[in-house]
Amino acid sequence: MDDRFNTIAGWVLFAGIIALGFSVLSGKYFHADSAVSPENPGYIIKGDDTGTDVEVSIEEMLNKMTAEQGEKVFAKCTACHTINAGGADGIGPNLHGVMGKPVAGGSSGFAYSSALSGVGGNWDWDTMSAWIKSPRAFANGNKMSFAGIGNIEDRAALLLYLNEQGSNLPVPEFVAAVAEEAAAEGEEVAAEEAAAEGEEAAEAEATEDAAAEENEGGA
Ligand code: HEC
Repeated sequence: MDDRFNTIAGWVLFAGIIALGFSVLSGKYFHADSAVSPENPGYIIKGDDTGTDVEVSIEEMLNKMTAEQGEKVFAKCTACHTINAGGADGIGPNLHGVMGKPVAGGSSGFAYSSALSGVGGNWDWDTMSAWIKSPRAFANGNKMSFAGIGNIEDRAALLLYLNEQGSNLPVPEFVAAVAEEAAAEGEEVAAEEAAAEGEEAAEAEATEDAAAEENEGGA
């Protein structure tokens, strides 16, 4: 009887020690910081090497939102646009596969305004985000009577949805925030690694951009 009691007590004690160990360990890695609030989220997203803080980028949001969420946002567009393959032009052009196509080149039969067709370039994440944010700012004098969507989350979701309807542009990777978050946590080694990765990606992107600009310049 006594033996069994000791055995049980021993296991209870052992379990307690394990639990304590876990709580100490997890406390090391996750801390409930009361200073963190929506105004002070505990991490700052740096836009570039100048150290200026910028608002959340479309790249980051594209990695957070889903095309399913975007389908709901597209309800704002259906009064004027179809997006199914071979769909008819309405007040606005059919939008099937528009991501990646030339600006004002989505539907061959549609009579675009000269304001929009004069913009040039292709519909990519940045140009489409700018157009949806403010059609007027993107192409002043265009004939899409739509105020725009200021909310970056809705816009990112919408872009993902557009991209799934007949286009398939790769979603840009977003690594900078991961590096900054890790740095804020004080996990120096992890932060250095993540930052190095982020820099590499940024460098790669910069090279790509430069190449793209050269191509455009040559065209
Ligand atoms: C009131 C009608 C209307 C609404 C609402 C509307 N659009 Fe348009 N859209 C147009 C018209 C008209 C054009 C052609 C603009 C021009 O030629 O100047 C257009 C053009 C576009 C283009 C350019 C297509 C191409 O081939 O280059 C895209 C992309 C687009 N709209 C997306 C959207 C999205 C996404 C929404 C919803 C958030 C939306 N539009 C809401 C009328 C509308």
